[in-house]
Amino acid sequence: MQLIREIDALRSAVATLREGGRIALVPTMGALHAGHMALVAEAKRRAAHVVASVFVNPAQFGPNEDLSSYPRREASDARMLEEAGCAILWAPDAATMYPEGYATTVSVSGVSEGLCGASRPGHFDGVATVVAKLFSQVRPDVVLFGEKDYQQLAVIRRMTRDLDLPVEVVGVPTQRDADGLALSSRNVYLSDEERIAARALPRALGEAAQAIRDGEPVEEAIAVARRKLGAAGFDPVEYVELRDADTLEPVSALSRPARLLAAARLGGTRLIDNLGVLPKEDEEPSLGR
Ligand code: PAF
Repeated sequence: MQLIREIDALRSAVATLREGGRIALVPTMGALHAGHMALVAEAKRRAAHVVASVFVNPAQFGPNEDLSSYPRREASDARMLEEAGCAILWAPDAATMYPEGYATTVSVSGVSEGLCGASRPGHFDGVATVVAKLFSQVRPDVVLFGEKDYQQLAVIRRMTRDLDLPVEVVGVPTQRDADGLALSSRNVYLSDEERIAARALPRALGEAAQAIRDGEPVEEAIAVARRKLGAAGFDPVEYVELRDADTLEPVSALSRPARLLAAARLGGTRLIDNLGVLPKEDEEPSLGR
């Protein structure tokens, strides 16, 4: 695996790879875990070569967010990516990504608003901007993102369609610990006690999703989920909302594929999670029995 930090070197290494087939990109901010490695594994199924990027993108952190404390583990990230068979680790520094005089922002309206966009103003502009730059630097055929950051995935899909970017965007299902907690680089911030309490998030979402599927009014199911999260120690519960799975428009009754999304704080850690909610008639028939 080549570790590359300069754009010219990246372009020539990618050009050589491209002669050998399709290129997949896995964009990350490092502190890699099994969720990222599932993206790499899916990337390998879809392309001949995998480029992974590790860049902690200052443009997507608000002034009071955890940019300075965000976990950075480049050496172990590089080892994991190499073992997984990545061809290139693209790890530019901030001055390479945003050189002196940098002045361009990509802003995706609609899907960026509400949910995480409400409490993290500018966050999705920062994400869209750096992802557009990564697309232009690597020019991948296919790019993979985790569904855990579901709104991010929707923003990137919208941007890719709107700007006619020639790349296939693939969402990969959220990877979870055995107790259901979604894997996240920020889980390292949780104390042992908080880590146990955090199980309430996937559990409350799962129960609310089931209740909605069973015909309980959406508002009621969400109110119950919020109460369960509060009782488990989440404070504040920023949002629990049912949205259209594609457009992210609010959904008040389940008639098409939807997504139940939540964000809540446990101590100093902000956790997010989401689950698909299909109307009964759209569910896959269960096999056997
Ligand atoms: O999901 C992430 O790790 C980041 O938001 C991304 C997509 C790498 C952009 O910085």
